[in-house]
Amino acid sequence: MDSITVYNAKGGTGKTSLSLALALKTGNTIITNDIYSPIDDVLPSSKVLKLEPNEKVPILDYSSPIIYDLGGHMMDTRISQCLKQSKTILIPTLTDYTSLKTTMYAIKEVEEFNKNIILIINKVSNEKEFFEAHKILSNFFTYEILRVKESKCFQNMFKNKKSIDEMMQENKLITRAYTEVNNQLINIINTLDSKDNIKSA
Ligand SMILES: Nc1ncnc2c1ncn2[C@@H]1O[C@H](COP(=O)(O)OP(=O)(O)OP(=O)(O)O)[C@@H](O)[C@H]1O
Ligand SMILES: [Mg+2]
Repeated sequence: MDSITVYNAKGGTGKTSLSLALALKTGNTIITNDIYSPIDDVLPSSKVLKLEPNEKVPILDYSSPIIYDLGGHMMDTRISQCLKQSKTILIPTLTDYTSLKTTMYAIKEVEEFNKNIILIINKVSNEKEFFEAHKILSNFFTYEILRVKESKCFQNMFKNKKSIDEMMQENKLITRAYTEVNNQLINIINTLDSKDNIKSA
């Protein structure tokens, strides 16, 4: 998987959870502007870089793709820099109206720097909720929209300090409980891998 940015100005939409789940599957390094992020409880220190508030984004070594897990305001110029040097931007949103509204502003800001965007409707607990959120987003944008269901696997990665794959291997009941969300994460990776690289076209 190439370098990506997971961004939304809206907090709590699952940026860190998705970044960690994807990093554990792909082996990519996470760089975040959240110094309090607990990802280093789960990932080895060689796979995590937490940027101090004034620390610059390091120059990319293309042999090791990065997942930039970024929150906060675009005034943090590191965000636009990471958006520009990422192949694709994942923008996770929750399904409630205020999250969708804020996400739409965030999409417009991201578009200025990178139009290779995939929207993720996250924490989906039923079809109706998904279709309503999908309808609102697709009214304004033509970007691909994927989904991730509501699942305990995300908080359990942090709690157990294990990847979703490790937890599934250990316990048959967990395998059953996590299969669908795990397939949705694999689908995100496959979609990222199959996306044309607009920049090199
Ligand atoms: N698909 C999901 N199902 C259930 N819970 C989820 C899901 N995605 C995220 N969460 C939970 O939502 C909360 C917020 O997630 P997370 O910290 O990943 O969001 P964030 O966008 O990184 O937040 P912040 O803006 O604070 O950095 C966490 O408690 C996480 O476990
Ligand atoms: Mg976060």
